[in-house]
Amino acid sequence: MKVLVTGGLGFIGSNFIRHLLKARPSWKIVNLDKQTYAGNPANLKGLKVETIKKDICDPKAVDRAMKGCDFVVHFAAETHVDRSILDAGAFLKTNILGTQVLLDAALSQQVRRFVHVSTDEVYGSIPKGYSKEGDHLEPNSPYAASKAAADLLVRSYFVTHKAPVLVTRASNNYGPYQYPEKALPLMITNFMEDKPFPQYGDGKQVRDWLHVADHARGILLVLEKGILGEVYNIGGSYTCQNRELIQRVLRLMKQPNDLVARVEDRKGHDRRYALDCSKLKRLGFRHAYGFDEGLRQTIAWYQDNEAWWRPLKVAGGYRSYLQKAYKRK
Ligand code: NAD
Ligand code: DAU
Repeated sequence: MKVLVTGGLGFIGSNFIRHLLKARPSWKIVNLDKQTYAGNPANLKGLKVETIKKDICDPKAVDRAMKGCDFVVHFAAETHVDRSILDAGAFLKTNILGTQVLLDAALSQQVRRFVHVSTDEVYGSIPKGYSKEGDHLEPNSPYAASKAAADLLVRSYFVTHKAPVLVTRASNNYGPYQYPEKALPLMITNFMEDKPFPQYGDGKQVRDWLHVADHARGILLVLEKGILGEVYNIGGSYTCQNRELIQRVLRLMKQPNDLVARVEDRKGHDRRYALDCSKLKRLGFRHAYGFDEGLRQTIAWYQDNEAWWRPLKVAGGYRSYLQKAYKRK
């Protein structure tokens, strides 16, 4: 089997490739990645993968990369909500138009199965209960709106062209190789430097935490066993408020419980995400990671891999793009 992975130099894409190399060693993997600020060749260091450094919005490059592929697993995207609030342009281009370019290529190349990797953020903030795959979409950030638009485009290609597509919607991933602008790696690396974590607003926002290795297993399951045209939620094994997560990480890292800076809230900040994953479980999915074990292991990974994250934090003045947006309260 030959599989095209897009965005394989990023956090989840690189973890998925690691999983695939072990779980399906006979498969040939081609990785198409533009190598934006979030795409890091160090994430695939030492692995036997062909990487093509091109934009998914470039139809010729996409056609070439997809030649002879049986499967496509599409991760490439602009992914950070804060950046989408400051400037939505790249989000609409990559996340929507890039997906359209890939879908057109998948039709002309007659790929057998195409998994579009999406997010729980498309359902919007849900005050109670759990989002199911058929629920209506109510994205609140430009990032989430661009992902929802792509999800609907994928759906339209199934209905109109009978494209062999599947969509996965996952919750907040955590684990090794996550760019340290996202909450958990930012928190861990700040605490390693005795710096506070900037807590947005009251910290009562609820997120559902999914280990990236479980996400990778869920995606492979959907790729191989999912029903074409269907959407599958992939949720985590632990849900909590941000302020609880901060205190938990502080305790595990033996830091004082006041190493927190309360800053202004994120605009349009979703209060709660929660996924109903019974459909995925019916395909046979079970989590391999409990949150306690996964969190300890993740903290240890960042402690052991300072040489990986340090250059990312130093490059260009870390998070300077956010300094104006998030003032201390
Ligand atoms: P990431 O930001 O770590 O990596 C994104 C990758 O895509 C990078 O390697 C980047 O270089 C590449 N890329 C960006 N624009 C591109 C373009 N135009 N052409 C080619 N490559 C391009 O992202 P991530 O956190 O690994 O997320 C991967 C996917 O999973 C995204 O589609 C995201 O929406 C989805 N997702 C993420 C999470 C999460 O918690 N991180 C949860 C659910 C779903
Ligand atoms: O839910 C899935 C989504 O999870 C993915 O689709 C996105 O690509 C991914 O970035 C992530 O989005 P979030 O906005 O939930 O993740 P982030 O790590 O940015 O923030 C997690 C929570 O922590 C959120 O409630 C905002 C808060 N936060 C975040 C940062 C960066 C803070 O309080 N302070 C911070 O500095």
